[in-house]
Amino acid sequence: MPRVVVLPGDGIGPEVCASAAEVLQKVAPDVELDYQLLGGGAYDQTGSPFPDATREAVMNCDAVLLGTVGGAQNSPWNALPRPLRPESGLLQLRKALGVYANLRPVKVMPGLESLSPLREDLARQVDVLIVRELLGGAYFDPRRAIEGDSAYNTIGYSKSEVDRVARVAFDAARTRKKEVTSVDKANVLEVSELWRGVVQNLRDTEYPDIKLEHEYVDSVAMLLVKTPGRYDVIVTENLFGDILSDLAAVIPGSLGVMPSASLGDGPGLYEPIHGSAPDIAGKGIANPTGTILSVAMLLRHSLNRDAEARRIEAAVQAALEEVRTPDLGGKGTTQELGAAVLKALGRADLG
Ligand code: NAD
Ligand code: IPM
Ligand code: MN
Repeated sequence: MPRVVVLPGDGIGPEVCASAAEVLQKVAPDVELDYQLLGGGAYDQTGSPFPDATREAVMNCDAVLLGTVGGAQNSPWNALPRPLRPESGLLQLRKALGVYANLRPVKVMPGLESLSPLREDLARQVDVLIVRELLGGAYFDPRRAIEGDSAYNTIGYSKSEVDRVARVAFDAARTRKKEVTSVDKANVLEVSELWRGVVQNLRDTEYPDIKLEHEYVDSVAMLLVKTPGRYDVIVTENLFGDILSDLAAVIPGSLGVMPSASLGDGPGLYEPIHGSAPDIAGKGIANPTGTILSVAMLLRHSLNRDAEARRIEAAVQAALEEVRTPDLGGKGTTQELGAAVLKALGRADLG
């Protein structure tokens, strides 16, 4: 029996996870769910944002489904020493699982183009997969400190760290339009020069069938809004990928609809890309779409159940035609949208 560890986390995390877990149980009733703590709530209860019991559970499961972690800007959690903060719990979880490739697909569902702030003809063309490196760069580089009146962080990458994530991007491109754009800042940063060389070498030696372009991150930020249809797969380092994926998330209409899969050699980690949304937490109006679509990615990548993943994606699309949460301009609640997805899953024409 496959086992999925569910980490609802903080803020709207438990609200969106509840909907997503119902969807998972509906399409895969044989999956066993194991609920564990992560983030600020975990710190409050155990003194650690990534408790030992959670570490133990995630290292011995088939996949992990995560809500969100973190508090508001003025949360007491933000005054804790950095390793005890909610976000550190998430980073420790990613590190423990060894999930170095973060897949963040951006697509505008057919019929839902009007939700995009972009012109509908532009929105219709968007189908981008952002592959964000997740275990390197400034996030994990030990060369970091606050020293008196100054502070520094370091964006370090080894060739092998670049190579393994670039492979994920090239392999994904082979199942799509066979185009990869590697995003860097090679006009300024040495680390980007190394990144660019590794990616180009891999393309030339092992992926000659893939069209590879190199572009600068500042220009990509502009072009993702101006002509987003030009991209197929984007591969980039950790911090650039974090920023570009929130930017790209605006295209389908809301941060609330974007799912992600983080993959390595062990269990995969699946989470929406948005945060704990303290401004709406507890109101029952968070959009669960990103988490529900993360369940689809979980079924596809970790449990090898592509048919169920497609059913969920079709059901979400059908549900959004009827129910929309306030972030998408509607009046629907989390519960109502979740229920509409469950109802659509029951329809024969989607199965
Ligand atoms: P956020 O993503 O939580 O919120 C940004 C805006 O988007 C808010 O207005 C919020 O209401 C809205 N929003 C986000 N998700 C939504 C959803 N599902 N439905 C409707 N509206 C939604 O970003 P933030 O405010 O910068 O961060 C809040 C906290 O979340 C911080 O502590 C941050 O560190 C944390 N965070 C966690 C994760 C994660 O757990 N993976 C990701 C990003 C931020
Ligand atoms: C994300 C988040 C995290 C990140 C934070 C909460 C550590 O913004 O998943 O995109 O920066 O990776
Ligand atoms: Mn982010």
